[in-house]
Amino acid sequence: MSRAYVHGYDERESVRLQDQASSVLELLHADTRYPPGSAVLEAGCGTGAQTVTLARNNPEVRFTSIDISAASLAEAKARVQAAGLTNVTFRQQDVFKLPSESFDHVFVCFLLEHLARPLEALRALKAVLKPGGTITVFEGDHGSTYFHPDNALAHRAVQCLVDLQKQAGGNANIGRQLYPLLREAGYGAVRVSPRMVYVDASKPKLVDSFTRKTFAAMIDGVREPAIQAGMMSAADFDAGIRALHRAAEDDGVFCYTFFKGVALRETKS
Ligand SMILES: C[S@@+](CC[C@H](N)C(=O)[O-])C[C@H]1O[C@@H](n2cnc3c(N)ncnc32)[C@H](O)[C@@H]1O
Repeated sequence: MSRAYVHGYDERESVRLQDQASSVLELLHADTRYPPGSAVLEAGCGTGAQTVTLARNNPEVRFTSIDISAASLAEAKARVQAAGLTNVTFRQQDVFKLPSESFDHVFVCFLLEHLARPLEALRALKAVLKPGGTITVFEGDHGSTYFHPDNALAHRAVQCLVDLQKQAGGNANIGRQLYPLLREAGYGAVRVSPRMVYVDASKPKLVDSFTRKTFAAMIDGVREPAIQAGMMSAADFDAGIRALHRAAEDDGVFCYTFFKGVALRETKS
């Protein structure tokens, strides 16, 4: 794992991940289906924000969902149980120390952006993937953020998160690199599709769940470390956050692009 998980593990982050999951659910899961009977590894499942949808959409698939954080796993387990789903096994596991076993498919969401060695993680996941199996990777890219009305302090506040994540060994702009990373890790048939979230006031639920409760909340989550590191003054940072919320008003617009990569472990590799 990167030196520090930039978003932290507190309750506010857990709520944010749930809001994020419900607002991007369609973008990610609408075309994510696995054949009945297959065994799928979900790497970096966190608090189970994707696990519930994966398990519900694929009732005849056995999921093994791993994460390095015991606290997140406990929450994920409770969430899956509360949803009445029985096709998930949870395990505390470092993605870089996977035991020798094999899966039909691998699913990864918002994990690579936090790793100092994403390429190595993709190779480690390939090692547990059966030939002919697929890996699905979903990552964001904060450099894809734009909004109306535009505001320089809001961009600077976003950059604080990008810089802090970099200092922690991660890469908040990794979405654009999925294609080269998957290729370099030795996967075949790599296909990456950008999934844009476009939010205006005609979609009030998305305004609330994505612009406010996912994106602005995520940037606000690094307020203290950003100010402590001298990246921005408290007044400028708060003005930047207000400007992000301004984009959630009736005449505001917010855009962000996720990237979904799907690739194959080829039979000859
Ligand atoms: C942003 S969360 C994403 C969680 C979930 N996939 C989702 O979409 O909500 C990233 C997760 O990766 C986990 N993680 C970080 N490094 C890891 C590693 N080396 N092995 C396994 N999990 C790791 C963190 O504990 C965290 O739960």
